[in-house]
Amino acid sequence: MSMFRRQLAERLRTLPFELVPLLPAGFQRVGTLVLLRLDPQLAAYEREIGLAIRELLSATGVFVREGVIGELRTPAVRRIAGYEDVTVHKENGCLFKIDVTKVLFAKGNAAERGRIIADPGEQVVDMFAGIGYFSLGIAKRTPSCRVTAIEKNPDAAALLRENVELNGLDNVTVIEGDCREVQAAGDRVVMGYFPGTEAYLPAAFGFLHRTGTIHYHNRYAQQDLWRKPLGELQATGVACGFQIEVLDKRVVKSLSPSKVHVVVDARARKL
Ligand SMILES: C[S@@+](CC[C@H](N)C(=O)[O-])C[C@H]1O[C@@H](n2cnc3c(N)ncnc32)[C@H](O)[C@@H]1O
Repeated sequence: MSMFRRQLAERLRTLPFELVPLLPAGFQRVGTLVLLRLDPQLAAYEREIGLAIRELLSATGVFVREGVIGELRTPAVRRIAGYEDVTVHKENGCLFKIDVTKVLFAKGNAAERGRIIADPGEQVVDMFAGIGYFSLGIAKRTPSCRVTAIEKNPDAAALLRENVELNGLDNVTVIEGDCREVQAAGDRVVMGYFPGTEAYLPAAFGFLHRTGTIHYHNRYAQQDLWRKPLGELQATGVACGFQIEVLDKRVVKSLSPSKVHVVVDARARKL
């Protein structure tokens, strides 16, 4: 039994013994908030579970995660204990103000968010900036780069503007809008979104100067690696007048037994 489940079970004296194995084995902490999945069979005990977790983890809010909705990847979450939806999360030396009822913060992307480094003086376009997942770290690690952070969801864009301030950054420009309709130029393009990211590849190539780097995220079935992502990059690159060289390809996280979130780093050169 996981340590968390055992500690929780010890606090839930009225929970029937047979329901103990259904208690969550883990959780995600975002600042002072805690998010987790809850088996529907525990619905009648939700309030007690929430209060026990709040006490155990000193959380100001405990949320049940029920999915992610639509194009803007809006979280479906429900607060079961506590009183706050907004917190400040620290990761890779950056501060992220976040409202967990309005925007996602994917736990499994932490290493990837910390990996991307711009070269000095580079122009970076972050096509799906959210609250600054990639933009803040890139701008902080390379103060001489310039980041154009594009975000379509007005709630996320407002938090992104606050986060630029909160981190004392003067090299990030926030543009609220659809990345397919924004005019910007870059040496490096970050495509931190899935699924269906292939539809945004023409816009990514459209941002590039004569040469540049694209960080292409997407979701694939295991059996389609790496033929499908590399094929999509090559085909769209050529159609947009670019030659592609793959610099790196990696699995960011597993999404189910058969599906993975991957990223391909590709160098593009105008033909
Ligand atoms: C939720 S994030 C992905 C998770 C994030 N990479 C992380 O590390 O946690 C994707 C963002 O892209 C935004 N988005 C979706 N479609 C967009 C578009 N066409 N143009 C600009 N932003 C878009 C969503 O609103 C969302 O904030």
